[in-house]
Amino acid sequence: MLEVLAGIGRNGRTGGYRRDAWSPPELELREWFRQEADARGMDRHEDRNGNLWAWWGDPDRKPGVVTGSHLDSVREGGAFDGPLGVVSAFRAVDVLRARGFTPNRPLGIVSFSDEEGARFGVPCVGSRLLTGILPPERARGLTGDDGVTLAEVMRAQGRDPAALGRDRETLARVGVFVELHIEQGRALTAPVGVAAAIWPHGRWRFDFHGTADHAGTTALADRDDPTLKYAQAVLAARGVAEKLGVVATFGKVMIQPNNANAIPSLVSAWLDARGADEDAVRRLVAELSEGQEVVCESWTPEVTFPAALRDRVAAIAGHPAPILPTGAGHDAGILASAGIPAAMLFVRNPTGVSHSPAEFAEPGDCAAGVTALAAVLADLCGEAT
Ligand code: GLV
Ligand code: MN
Ligand code: MN
Repeated sequence: MLEVLAGIGRNGRTGGYRRDAWSPPELELREWFRQEADARGMDRHEDRNGNLWAWWGDPDRKPGVVTGSHLDSVREGGAFDGPLGVVSAFRAVDVLRARGFTPNRPLGIVSFSDEEGARFGVPCVGSRLLTGILPPERARGLTGDDGVTLAEVMRAQGRDPAALGRDRETLARVGVFVELHIEQGRALTAPVGVAAAIWPHGRWRFDFHGTADHAGTTALADRDDPTLKYAQAVLAARGVAEKLGVVATFGKVMIQPNNANAIPSLVSAWLDARGADEDAVRRLVAELSEGQEVVCESWTPEVTFPAALRDRVAAIAGHPAPILPTGAGHDAGILASAGIPAAMLFVRNPTGVSHSPAEFAEPGDCAAGVTALAAVLADLCGEAT
């Protein structure tokens, strides 16, 4: 399955993926999901927030055990962040069926919509809408760099943006959620690990205003150049992050009007800040924001996965599998923060590189992830007698 997906949305020059929510490659991935569900005779359904579900058994009879992840990517992302969890979910169903296993609870596979927020800025849009954490009116107005809103994009794809929002019926079907994901740091040395917690994290847009003018005729002393303010903010972010023991990144910047021969009028830059200590993250943002025009675009408080489920998953997935925190955000964290029992399995990443074309997991470790996931799902579902 990973081989089938390998060509979708791939930049042949860099090897990186661009799978923005609702873009042609992402729509192709949605079609792939539907075909995989159909091939297994699973009942499939797209909820009103754009999340895709496939069911083995009837989740309206009793809440199910759900696994899955997302199919969208960051821009120039790797092949595993997201798709590994969805592919492993389908493979785990195959493994259980080949073994003659009949689940005593419905087993679901989900692909959450727009986990990365590459297009509209806010991450985990599908799971945040589903759980009611993201108000639908805010979601409808989210705007991509091309000026097109999420509502317009969804309407163009035949979806109804008026239907976005908390979805109690769909949520009621999810008794427990287990997301398998490639590990995105260097901490996991065993083939499979289990998540302890997700660091608090957020995104803030800084707008640095200046005065547009000619690059050749404006004396240095006469300039009001917003790139200098931006440069100072980048250096300050590094210094404050080091001081407070957190991480801070200006990974996206847009310059208006973007001429080589003009002083810009505006620099918009996005700060991503995270850390184990929520107070420290907030202090960093407060320090950097002083005297600046700043908008918080998303905030995710710390998520600690429920200990009993975490330990049960670790015992089944390893001897037991190592338990580790992560600085990466995930839909499992959103569901957990909405009160749904959730856990995560991580598959070793030999270099730890992620959100990059260099992201990689060994086939043997991916297979170990499937084995662990199948065992966890079998345990959580129980076998029908
Ligand atoms: C998602 O991958 C994030 O942590 O930004
Ligand atoms: Mn990611
Ligand atoms: Mn991911």
